[in-house]
Amino acid sequence: MSDFDLFLERRGSNSAKWDRYAGTEILPMWVADMDFKVPQQIIDALSERAAHGIFGYDSEPAELKQVIVQRMEMLYDWEVDLNEILFLPGVVAGLNQACRGLVGPDESVITATPVYFPFLSAPENWGRKLHRIPCRKNRGTWPFPVEQMAANMAEYTETKLLLLCNPFNPIGRLLDAKELSGIVEICRKNNVWICSDEIHCELVLDDRSHIPTATISREAEEITITMMAPTKTFNLAGLGGAFAIIKNPELREQFIQGGKGMISRLTTFAYISMLAAYRDCEPWRRDLLAYLRANRDYLANRIDGITGISMSPVEATYLAWLDVSMLNLDDPMEFFESAGVGLSDGPQFDGQGYMRLNFACPLETLVEACDRIESAVSNLSSSVGK
Ligand SMILES: Cc1ncc(COP(=O)(O)O)c(C=O)c1O
Repeated sequence: MSDFDLFLERRGSNSAKWDRYAGTEILPMWVADMDFKVPQQIIDALSERAAHGIFGYDSEPAELKQVIVQRMEMLYDWEVDLNEILFLPGVVAGLNQACRGLVGPDESVITATPVYFPFLSAPENWGRKLHRIPCRKNRGTWPFPVEQMAANMAEYTETKLLLLCNPFNPIGRLLDAKELSGIVEICRKNNVWICSDEIHCELVLDDRSHIPTATISREAEEITITMMAPTKTFNLAGLGGAFAIIKNPELREQFIQGGKGMISRLTTFAYISMLAAYRDCEPWRRDLLAYLRANRDYLANRIDGITGISMSPVEATYLAWLDVSMLNLDDPMEFFESAGVGLSDGPQFDGQGYMRLNFACPLETLVEACDRIESAVSNLSSSVGK
């Protein structure tokens, strides 16, 4: 039995994920955090800092930027300088900062959908227009709509910023070098900056490596803001903490301007957990990936056996994108909740007919969720057949 098999009670711990269904038997498989305990090294580092007992304004730990630089080199063979790293309280804050700093009031933002919903709200938060380019499923997978994006940018020349999600939540894609080169080429031609949200980059489940958009070419480095964080991989969302890497000094300055008055230092615990995660927890991450791969395969197999639901291949992230349109449900969210499983509703990502399922939980929980879904769908088919 692995540590990831342990069921830890989260009810009563102010968990947003579990509180949504307080007092019910519904299994929460919606928001993107994991039902796994974080590595002991992180708990120890936080405990040691908490024991100090003074929580004034902290600076970042001296070695933190260096540890990030080494990580970029180790994982992506990417050379980053210390001064190119900016800390952020969170990636969503960074998306908003980019919209505010890089896009003028009469200019617009572009993104491919379905996508993590703050991509849809960030431009609107700052009164910027958003062009949505729908991805179309092709033979069960979701190629990035490079050509449609090119056509849109050619028509709407006021577009200044692409919000790119890679790995791509909720569709689980890990974009390949060809797609990324195409995206960079079009953005460069149209003078569009790229804000590349790569928060899931260390959760690759396929036998491939993540490619940061900025590493595709020199031109890519010049036009790209890369945003990463340890919070998804090491289950630290409640502590927050992220960073941006921006090579181009002009772009960096504009981005900084976008956060003026709003983006300040991180919390003490965000700095401490980020350092411990990146410096001390690589073996834990490897074990996590093995566990998530097995969960993904189990889930894919079970869904394959349920008529009326299909699952896109999950190349990265711990989020499965389920096509439930064949079930013809009036209210898919309500249907799955009645079945005892709380999923994320597709339309919030601009994905009508889809539901997102978070499988970062002990296998036993996942088995129970699959049993419940299977049984509810089978009852539905028998009642439709009557
Ligand atoms: C693609 C993506 N970006 C950002 C976030 C949240 O980032 P943060 O908590 O750092 O704001 C999530 C959380 O699920 C996500 O999936």
